[in-house]
Amino acid sequence: MSDRSASSADPALAGVSRDTLAVRGGEGEYLVQGATQVPVVYSAAFGYPDVDAWLAVAQGRAPGHIYSRNTNPTNHAFEEKVRVLEGAEAATSFATGMAAISNALFALLAPGDHVVSVKDTYGGTNQMFVDFLPRLGITVDLCDTSDHEEIETVIARGCQVVYLETPTNPTLKVLDIARLAAAAHEARAVVLADNTFATPINQNPLELGADLVIHSATKFLGGHADALGGVVCGDPGLVAKAYHYREITGASLDPMAAYLLLRGMKTLGLRIARQNESALRIARWLDERPEVAAVYYPGLESHVHHDVAARQMRGYGGVLSFMLEGGFEAVRRVLPKLRLAHRAANLGAVETVAGPPATTSHVECSPEEREAMGIPEGLIRYSVGIEDAGDLVADLEQALAAV
Ligand SMILES: Cc1ncc(COP(=O)(O)O)c(C=O)c1O
Repeated sequence: MSDRSASSADPALAGVSRDTLAVRGGEGEYLVQGATQVPVVYSAAFGYPDVDAWLAVAQGRAPGHIYSRNTNPTNHAFEEKVRVLEGAEAATSFATGMAAISNALFALLAPGDHVVSVKDTYGGTNQMFVDFLPRLGITVDLCDTSDHEEIETVIARGCQVVYLETPTNPTLKVLDIARLAAAAHEARAVVLADNTFATPINQNPLELGADLVIHSATKFLGGHADALGGVVCGDPGLVAKAYHYREITGASLDPMAAYLLLRGMKTLGLRIARQNESALRIARWLDERPEVAAVYYPGLESHVHHDVAARQMRGYGGVLSFMLEGGFEAVRRVLPKLRLAHRAANLGAVETVAGPPATTSHVECSPEEREAMGIPEGLIRYSVGIEDAGDLVADLEQALAAV
């Protein structure tokens, strides 16, 4: 775990932009012996010949590491980079995004508690709400994602946690974080926000009132689809609870994955700028196509929450989805024709990735559950990579001929 008091805030980085923080942030104290890169520290434990020094670290009175299930130097540098990018006071890492989400929820909730969230969160998160939490006697209300008044009304009835994800996966709906955080705080609830789709380059939920921000670092943060990871950052007391839960239950980040995520994050600013621009261009192009029944992208002026997105986001992100005329049969025909997109269950990578929710984000759900969540079977989620946008448009054009 990292918090501001335990880590050296690098004076050289005071006042620099997020793009610069992505390159240099969080690394300072780990650039040892002139290294320009943070090393992978593969050591299960850390030794202290002096018992008093050991005790001071073990009791949290001095910075340092005891055992890598708890903290590790490479993981700490990764936590620090995300922490400074999100403007958080504390951060802690996890083996995956789902470990971050589940550990944060388990750490904050107890039997009898109530959670308010929305219908179309990521499929794994939805399973927490409809299966794992109810098994522990924790009740969950899942509101219509587009109806802020309903969400506010349900929050006002009382809850301990308000869980937001925006933009949502895979229909790219947008929640007004400031508005819902105000309603949650009125009800004395803690606000968690999954910022995976937006990334800290495009949106900072803590500035808008969230108490904790969660990322699947597997996606845009790492950006190269070669490492899994998750992170929770924000209020130090709440982060400490999530850290303690992970420290005991053990879903810790592997230091090699932390190294790959750190390396990937150096180009975060460049990648997101490119992906924002290309996704908007592709969304506009798809919007004009007769084979496409609907395009979901918050950057389109026609998007139902474009005004909220324009207020709280600096860019609209690299993921869009679109519905083909002809439903799932059309998806079956078009997807195999794509030459420049991996057909895979991932997003946020430098390579373009496409797939239907039935095999990607909502594979855990039945067609009926997807229907109830407002996810059409004819939808394709399209995560724009850093390839030339003109090449991607040409690729989509030849594939759409199969509709
Ligand atoms: C928005 C969102 N949050 C969380 C997750 C879970 O992340 P991970 O696969 O790293 O466990 C995903 C995965 O697709 C996601 O899209």
